[in-house]
Amino acid sequence: MNIVELDQLRYRWQGQSKDILHIPELNIAQGEHVFLRGESGSGKTTLLNLLAGILTPSDGHIRLLEHDFHHASSMKRDRFRADHMGVIFQQFNLLPYLSATENVTLPCHFSARRRDKSGDTEQSAIQLLDHLQLDESLRNSMVTSLSVGQQQRVAVARALIGQPEIIIADEPTSALDTGTRDRFIELLFSKAEAQKSTIIFVSHDPHIAEHFPRVIELSEINKAL
Ligand SMILES: Nc1ncnc2c1ncn2[C@@H]1O[C@H](COP(=O)(O)OP(=O)(O)O)[C@@H](O)[C@H]1O
Ligand SMILES: [Mg+2]
Repeated sequence: MNIVELDQLRYRWQGQSKDILHIPELNIAQGEHVFLRGESGSGKTTLLNLLAGILTPSDGHIRLLEHDFHHASSMKRDRFRADHMGVIFQQFNLLPYLSATENVTLPCHFSARRRDKSGDTEQSAIQLLDHLQLDESLRNSMVTSLSVGQQQRVAVARALIGQPEIIIADEPTSALDTGTRDRFIELLFSKAEAQKSTIIFVSHDPHIAEHFPRVIELSEINKAL
């Protein structure tokens, strides 16, 4: 089964005279681990936001888990994202007034599906943070008191909780040292393998690309001029 299907997808920012993206076709199968590469400003974040349902296509179709995204309301897109997607944004989007652990359990408050799959949500959050070497005192701290690299680990754990089918990551390792980066990749792959999640991963780091069986060059699939 294809988890992601793009068909003549076009995106144009409002007020612009030309498309930033025109992807005639792209299929990603369930369980695939895909690395998306492209120059800065080439539209990687825009594409991930389209996949996550934060932006809607100017034309064409996005099907995720065989649902047609183009025709869904914004409420339905939010519901779908909460139930089926773990998203690691470039700016993390953590909630400042919550602790690290509370940030990680957040998706389980919005999605009964993610809550059921995670079992004991707090225990599940602690396990993920523990694996990313965020110890107890940091787990209970407000996220604003954490370093950028520690916040990135919280964002990663939040994306993994409750076994979402699709994990989307936008340069999630940019603030990590190489040891933490490697543990992160190991955790991501072992979790994704266990729950058969599909990973779509954007990064500039060529060391990470080596771990991915499929590397997509955005300039090769994007026909926008
Ligand atoms: N909110 C916005 N409004 C208008 N143009 C934008 C907006 N966000 C990004 N862009 C433009 O879209 C292009 C692609 O940006 P982006 O997807 O962030 O690239 P990348 O993630 O590959 O660095 C850039 O030219 C950028 O200036
Ligand atoms: Mg970007």
